[in-house]
Amino acid sequence: MSMSRPLLVAALILAAHFAWRLDARPTTLAEQREADARARMAGRRATDSALENIREEERAHIARELHDDLGQLLATLRVDMSLLMRQPVADDATRDLLAGMDGRLLSAITSLRRIASNLRPHALDEGGLYFALQSLRHEFAERHGIVCELAAREDELVLNDRYSTALFRIVQESLTNIARHAQARHVRIALRRHRATLYLTIEDDGRGIAQADMEKPTSFGLLGMRERVWAIRGDIAITGSHRGTRIEIHLPLPGDALDIGKLPNAHRAN
Ligand SMILES: Nc1ncnc2c1ncn2[C@@H]1O[C@H](COP(=O)(O)OP(=O)(O)OP(=O)(O)O)[C@@H](O)[C@H]1O
Ligand SMILES: [Mg+2]
Repeated sequence: MSMSRPLLVAALILAAHFAWRLDARPTTLAEQREADARARMAGRRATDSALENIREEERAHIARELHDDLGQLLATLRVDMSLLMRQPVADDATRDLLAGMDGRLLSAITSLRRIASNLRPHALDEGGLYFALQSLRHEFAERHGIVCELAAREDELVLNDRYSTALFRIVQESLTNIARHAQARHVRIALRRHRATLYLTIEDDGRGIAQADMEKPTSFGLLGMRERVWAIRGDIAITGSHRGTRIEIHLPLPGDALDIGKLPNAHRAN
């Protein structure tokens, strides 16, 4: 698998280059410059998108390793610990020490699960995008005490891995931002599919993002979000006011964005 990644990047760059070369031949200097700029942009997008796929693959790989390797080891240690705790113990200090170790082991297992799930949300593989977003919403509301609503239909969100992962990561970054910066009390995530377009809106009632916030040179969350949307040819608009922040995304869905294999029979004809 690792051999194919550099090749994939190179193939995409070459494809973008040749697509440009075969394009209509520019005649004037201005047209030439415009064509150059377009080709550079197309090449950059293809590279960004290929790199993003590689990053997602790596994250999934690390998540699996953490779960299967370190996770198993910690689980076995906890079993050993419970056997040890059943042995008669001479003094209270040792008993307290063992109980403390057991508590810390449990925290380590919980942390590991959270880290692995951030790297590659299990829910995406198990139940698809709708289920993964429900889990994200639930966890966010529990953890931050902010009311979070998800308005979506499961049958409209049966998308392939590329689209599901991109949408999941966008919602995940939006919620992280809300928890960190917004001082919001209420969040609404709405997804709706109409014909071949998916509409995603994430709104909060916090302090509202300012224009200067969107231009911070050291912030990468919103930048990454934009790159993800552009990589799958969507549009994104981020606006803020005293009523809060609103992120609106329009995503055209080509035929291969739908995961027909997972679609219930009743919806296949749509
Ligand atoms: N929902 C929001 N409400 C208010 N301000 C926001 C919101 N989302 C983002 N911001 C502002 O926009 C800035 C840029 O967000 P961005 O996600 O790009 O970076 P960040 O969260 O600061 O850092 P990171 O690179 O870790 O994501 C934030 O620093 C914050 O000031
Ligand atoms: Mg952020």
